Amino acid sequence: MDEYGASTYGDRIADIYDERYAEVFGNDLAATVPFLKEIAGDGAALELGIGTGRIAIPLAEAGVRVQGIDASEAMVGRLHAKRGGSAIPVTMGDFRDFTIDERFRLVYVVFNTFFGLLTQDDQVSCFRSVARHLTDEGVFAMEAFVPDATRWDRGQRVSATRVELDEVEIEVSMHDSLAQHTHSHHLIVREDGVRLYPVRIRYAYPSELDLMARLAGMRLRERWADWDRSPLTATSQKHISVWELDRPGT
Ligand SMILES: C[S@@+](CC[C@H](N)C(=O)[O-])C[C@H]1O[C@@H](n2cnc3c(N)ncnc32)[C@H](O)[C@@H]1O
Repeated sequence: MDEYGASTYGDRIADIYDERYAEVFGNDLAATVPFLKEIAGDGAALELGIGTGRIAIPLAEAGVRVQGIDASEAMVGRLHAKRGGSAIPVTMGDFRDFTIDERFRLVYVVFNTFFGLLTQDDQVSCFRSVARHLTDEGVFAMEAFVPDATRWDRGQRVSATRVELDEVEIEVSMHDSLAQHTHSHHLIVREDGVRLYPVRIRYAYPSELDLMARLAGMRLRERWADWDRSPLTATSQKHISVWELDRPGT
């Protein structure tokens, strides 16, 4: 494989992304879209890693002015081929460090996409870029998993995620607890061959994300276990976090 870069995940998975994740999510955006619409208010929104528009298209249909950033031409090609997606502006590039000539009431990044930035420095850089692009009232919303090191046994994990008569899906991953990295492949195994879908991430605990926010001049405004604002507990598997600019006197 060529070196893993910002576009690798998207370029490799674009062909099957919508079909695969429609099954995972059941396309249930009943709580996600209202949550994002409420915090966007009457302002504009920017999605980091907009992909094929799973969230951006329904959010735009709900009346929010949405645009996005993405590194993968293949993913954005899918977005722009969809009805409702063709009119959504996308800046091609790496959301690690970006400049768009506009300020947003809402910048958001969902489905663990923030963890696609593979170093702590890159993640801090992203928070700083976000802060530069917020209006005074603007917020940064993130959906990410709560790390769980018990998923790995001696630094590795192999699990079956789907077993059909003519197709098997297997997830193979290695975990580096010091770097907070996982290197994974989703394997789709059929009689005619095997396809590999690579995913590399650097995960961070909510507390580390809050420190990154502070380095970027932001503070936590709200944190939940899900888009329905259910309370976060020690057993929650993911969190929805919203940071705002830390303006003196507010
Ligand atoms: C898991 S997909 C999520 C897509 C969409 N947000 C959704 O929820 O369905 C991650 C997306 O982020 C993009 N991406 C990953 N790392 C990126 C980076 N560093 N800069 C820009 N885009 C990136 C990928 O190309 C892909 O489209």
